Amino acid sequence: MAKVETPWGGRFGEAPDALMERFNASIGFDRKLLEVDIAGSAAYARGLERAGIISTEERTQIEVGLEKVRQEFAQPDCDLPAALEDIHMAVEKRLTELVGAVGGKLHTGRSRNDQVNLDERLYLRAALAAIRGRIHRLQEVLLASAERHRDAVLPGYTHVQQAQPVLFAHYALALFWMLDRDRGRLADCGRRADCMPLGSGALAGSTFPIDRQFLARELGFSAVTPNSIDAVSDRDFLLETLSALAIAMMHLSRFCEDLIVWSSAEFGFVELSDHFSTGSSMMPQKKNPDSLELVRGKTGRVYGDLVALLTTMKAVPLTYSKDMQEDKEPLFDALETVDSCLEVFTGAWEGMAVRAERMEASIDSMALATDLADYLVRRGLPFREAHRVIGNLVRAALDSGRALTDFALEDLQGFSGDFGEDALALLDVRNSLALRNIEGGTGPEAVAEQMAKARVALAAE
Ligand code: ARG
Repeated sequence: MAKVETPWGGRFGEAPDALMERFNASIGFDRKLLEVDIAGSAAYARGLERAGIISTEERTQIEVGLEKVRQEFAQPDCDLPAALEDIHMAVEKRLTELVGAVGGKLHTGRSRNDQVNLDERLYLRAALAAIRGRIHRLQEVLLASAERHRDAVLPGYTHVQQAQPVLFAHYALALFWMLDRDRGRLADCGRRADCMPLGSGALAGSTFPIDRQFLARELGFSAVTPNSIDAVSDRDFLLETLSALAIAMMHLSRFCEDLIVWSSAEFGFVELSDHFSTGSSMMPQKKNPDSLELVRGKTGRVYGDLVALLTTMKAVPLTYSKDMQEDKEPLFDALETVDSCLEVFTGAWEGMAVRAERMEASIDSMALATDLADYLVRRGLPFREAHRVIGNLVRAALDSGRALTDFALEDLQGFSGDFGEDALALLDVRNSLALRNIEGGTGPEAVAEQMAKARVALAAE
């Protein structure tokens, strides 16, 4: 049997079974880490030079070789077989083929345990910036849409029952603020991941005098990990990212749900553009909101990614075990899924027609009942009493098939002597809105102020 050719083959007599080789390999998915792995290794070579472990010439050879490997491996048709195991070993092997024995010095004092942790932190940094950019863009679209439709009024719902009228702009901005927190959560994840793990070795640190602060500066980290055991074991920077992504998807999904229902013939509040709809293979009349349905559907998938990694990690003894190789696919999947969902949702919202007349026409006069109760409170009635009076009024309206707006002043006065002439003005949607200019409310002035705050939030980056 030929001598095993893996870098760790020294103590082995025989090669792994072909099945084991395939089962063990992560190269099929961790080649996504190519760029960051090379960047981390180049910095590490500079760290080795600084520590006097390799010469300047050797460091140059390694850096030049790494760049060649990067270019080769980045070719889409570059085949990286399972025998290479993972991206870290593949890069080292190819580097050594290209530059000779000096390539074998690169891994001095380093383990794949601190290396993979570094790669993931570097990868995450760029991915978080990209997702945060996408969220920012969607927020811009929502704010522009709120501004464009600043007069559109919508029945607001609780329990999917009409509750009170709200401005469409107010509704759109609700998502704006949810996304603003999502963006903030992802920024927090980035801040906690901003710690450089190299120098942790396999688990106990390194016997070589590597200047970890230097490496942190070289790689753009603001701190180094304070504990080598923690560093190689930690995946919570991935878990909290997955959690933040799951929450962001939940937000999108709830809005998808509303918009899907609202684009039905029964509601007709919005109509998706043709660009973000699809047709039926059988029914010629159909225009289906598949874009939003898929975003809603993919939410479950992102939750799955979070739960998969939480479950993988729950019983991994400290420090590293191969279980942890299972961290990458859920991470990549969630990042790609959220990225595409944000892009699609943004396009769908941007192209969506808002049928303001339809929205306003569908507001049931009953949605003004709270305003009548509040009126009686202003006339001195305890709220609970006012609630009961208006409840009776609503009952009478329902029994006689009338809208609240059909009631004349004398009719109202039959329920409470406190009703005056000015009560009739309340039976108007615009007046109802204007009563809610409280900060954070749906009154037009309050919403104008809210838009100003939203612009500040966007500018703050
Ligand atoms: N491919 C491995 C992973 O993704 C790299 C770390 C391997 N470490 C080890 N001690 N076998 O987790």
